[in-house]
Amino acid sequence: MSMTQLLDATIRQIAVPGKGILAADESGQTIAKRFATIQVESTENNRRIYREMLFTAPQLSDYVNGVILYEETLGQKASNGSTLANVLEKQGIIPGIKVDKGLVDLVGTDREKVTQGLDGLSDRLVTYKEMGARFAKWRAVFDITDVKPSCLAMETNAHNLARYAAICQAHGIVPIVEPEVLMDGDHTIERCAEVTEKVLHTVFRHLYLNKVSLEHIILKPSMVISGSTCKQQASSEQVARETVRVLLRTVPAAVPTINFLSGGQSAEFATENLHWMNKLHPNLPWLLSFSYGRALQAPSLDAWHGKDSQLVQGQEALLKRARLNAAACVGEYNSTME
Ligand code: 13P
Repeated sequence: MSMTQLLDATIRQIAVPGKGILAADESGQTIAKRFATIQVESTENNRRIYREMLFTAPQLSDYVNGVILYEETLGQKASNGSTLANVLEKQGIIPGIKVDKGLVDLVGTDREKVTQGLDGLSDRLVTYKEMGARFAKWRAVFDITDVKPSCLAMETNAHNLARYAAICQAHGIVPIVEPEVLMDGDHTIERCAEVTEKVLHTVFRHLYLNKVSLEHIILKPSMVISGSTCKQQASSEQVARETVRVLLRTVPAAVPTINFLSGGQSAEFATENLHWMNKLHPNLPWLLSFSYGRALQAPSLDAWHGKDSQLVQGQEALLKRARLNAAACVGEYNSTME
């Protein structure tokens, strides 16, 4: 298969109405934070048990067609001896891999962040592909204040996202392009819209300059939403209208699918927002779906609580969120389904 055929095949399997992606690619540091909330120690074995519980949830593939893994998970074995990547494939779910190396301060700015990981990326992709990964993820973050994000932070992060995407496509790996405008702060939804529009324009300009095939990316943006400490919190309908308005102004129709991150929203709010976008706008040029981490996993983590006796409850909690978000992808969610 040529690289283009490979990219085509992966996109065809991911860009399916009514299905989305589970982000289970928390770094060592992040998963330790999540486990601490349920008093579970973050050992390699506990991480494996937890993720095996998620990936073996019965019929998960009815709602989820891709899972993003952390490097450690890609190499881990399930209790039946096959790799966790294989466990997913057997379920009909495509394994993907987080390839960025996290955030560092961007020199020349007031502690804004830049994502690192381009050095050696091409070699790492060869290995990840051999291990079964067919898509990748790179997350860039943008702070909102009256003066942030700076022009330097936007240009540098957009350039890195585009270099990453181009390198992935050269290996036949579909890149998830994730520019996350952070929710932290007391900014209004209008300010979030303004910043998100600037960020997305900048990202798509760099994707174009780097000759990235837009037909073979998954865009993973944040929603346009009120800052987490803003006194006036926008409703789901407002979030849906503002988000779609900004996307229509910035994202070319060639992009097949937009899979949102949840970014600290509650599980219910993330589902409701996605529902209203699809309900109010049934004829958009791209699919609108999910690639949630916390909004899919938090209830499951809580139900499991690190106990072998509660693995089934953990799976049921994941399946419930996955099913409701799948319904939201086609505008058929209703809060009575909670
Ligand atoms: P959240 O949905 O928790 O934001 O996680 C998605 C993700 O992959 C962040 O990079």
